[in-house]
Amino acid sequence: MKLWLIGAYGIVATTAMVGAKAIEKGVTDTTGLVSELFDLNIPLKFEFGGHDIRKSKNFYEAALEHWKLNRHFDFEVLEEVGDELKTEACKGTTLNCGSGLQELGELETIDDLELREIVDTLSKDMKDSDVVVNVASTEPLILYNPEYHKTLEGFEEMLDENKKEWVSASMLYAYSALKQGIPYANFTPSVGSNLPALKELAIEKGVPHAGNDGKTGETLVKTTLAPMFSYRNLRIMGWMGYNILGDFDGKVLSHKDNKQSKVESKDKVLEKVLGYSPYTITEIEYFPSLVDNKTAFDFIHFKGFLGTSMKMYFIWDAVDAIVAAPLVLDIARFLLLAKKKGCKGVVKELGFFFKSPMDTEVVNTHEQFEILKEWCSEIAK
Ligand SMILES: NC(=O)c1ccc[n+]([C@@H]2O[C@H](COP(=O)([O-])OP(=O)(O)OC[C@H]3O[C@@H](n4cnc5c(N)ncnc54)[C@H](O)[C@@H]3O)[C@@H](O)[C@H]2O)c1
Repeated sequence: MKLWLIGAYGIVATTAMVGAKAIEKGVTDTTGLVSELFDLNIPLKFEFGGHDIRKSKNFYEAALEHWKLNRHFDFEVLEEVGDELKTEACKGTTLNCGSGLQELGELETIDDLELREIVDTLSKDMKDSDVVVNVASTEPLILYNPEYHKTLEGFEEMLDENKKEWVSASMLYAYSALKQGIPYANFTPSVGSNLPALKELAIEKGVPHAGNDGKTGETLVKTTLAPMFSYRNLRIMGWMGYNILGDFDGKVLSHKDNKQSKVESKDKVLEKVLGYSPYTITEIEYFPSLVDNKTAFDFIHFKGFLGTSMKMYFIWDAVDAIVAAPLVLDIARFLLLAKKKGCKGVVKELGFFFKSPMDTEVVNTHEQFEILKEWCSEIAK
C-alpha cells in the first residue's frame, strides 16, 4: 500500500515513515498504534511518497535533519531503515499558506502555474497512491466563500477561472486525492476536505475521508479529563492551557495568521464536552530550545459541593512527533479499511483521532473510543 504524505519532509511524516519501516523489519514493536488493538486485516506495510516545499534530498535526509535536532529515537533505527527512504518528495503548492512558511527557508513550489495546472500536477504525482494524509504546516483560516466553496460546481468553476485568492493549498491536495478516488485525511487544522464542495466530491466519487487536526497531546488529555468533571457534576469555571514548543511547527505557529486555526481547534473542545462554556485561555508560544518536546501547562478551576472552589493542574510533556506519527499510520489503515468496505464521505467514527472531528459534535475521548470500537466490529462483519 502506498501512503502519500503532504508535508513529507516534516518531523511527523518522517517519523511515521521510519516507524512503519522499523516495525516491518522487526526493529521495533507496535506500541502506540491504536490500529493494532483491532483486527483490521489491513497490513501494516507501507511504501511512501509525498509532497513538500522545502529543499531536501530525500525522506531519509529529512529524517536525519530532524533526528539531529531532536534525537527522538535510537539512531540505529534510522540507519536500519534509511535505504528504504531514499525517495524525493514532489514539489507542492503554498497558495494562501500564510507568512509562517517564510520560516522554512528557501521554498520550491509550483505556485506559478494556473490552478488547473497545479491540480493536474498534484494529481499526477499522487495517482498511484492508496491513501493520502496531510501533515503539512498549519495554514491560516481562509474566508468561506459560498460561491466557490459550497458546491463542487462552484469549486471547479473557481479552478477554471484561476481564482487563486479563494483557495488554499490543503484544499487543492484534498481535491486532487478525492477526485481520483483516493481516501484522504487531514491531520492539521487547515481546511483540507472540510468544505461542502469537497464533501460532495467525496460522495460522488464514493471515497472516504476524515479530519481535522490530530488529537495527540494536551487536547487528548483535556477531552479525556473534562468528562470526569461532568460525571461527578463538578462545574468547571475556567481552564487555561499554555503550550510551548520549538521546531519547524513551533516556528510556523509563531506567526499570528498560522496560529489562529490551531488555537480555535484546541479551544472549541471544552464547550462541546461540557455543554457550557467556561472561561478559557489557550496560548501557543514558540520556545526554540524545546525543539519537538512540546510542553503544555494546564490549570483548571472548578466548583464543588457547597460552592467550594478547587483547582487542578497538569503538565503534558511529550515528544510531539512520537505521539503523532503512529496516529498517521492508524488513520491511513482505518481509511483503507473504510474504502475496502465501501464507506464514502466523512468517516465520523474516526473522530477519535482528531481535535476538530468533521460532522460530529462528539469530542469526549471515551465516547469516541466506544464509537470507533463499535464501527470496527460492525464493519468487520
Ligand atoms: N503532535 C503533533 O505533532 C501534531 C498534532 C496535531 C497536528 N499536527 C500538525 O501536523 C503538521 C505537521 O507537524 P510537524 O511537526 O511534522 O511539522 P513540520 O514543520 O516538521 O513539517 C511540516 C512539513 O510540511 C511542509 N509544508 C509546509 N507547507 C506545505 C505545503 N503547502 N505543501 C507541502 N508541504 C508543506 C514543510 O516544508 C515541512 O516539511 C502541522 O500542521 C501540525 O500542526 C501535529
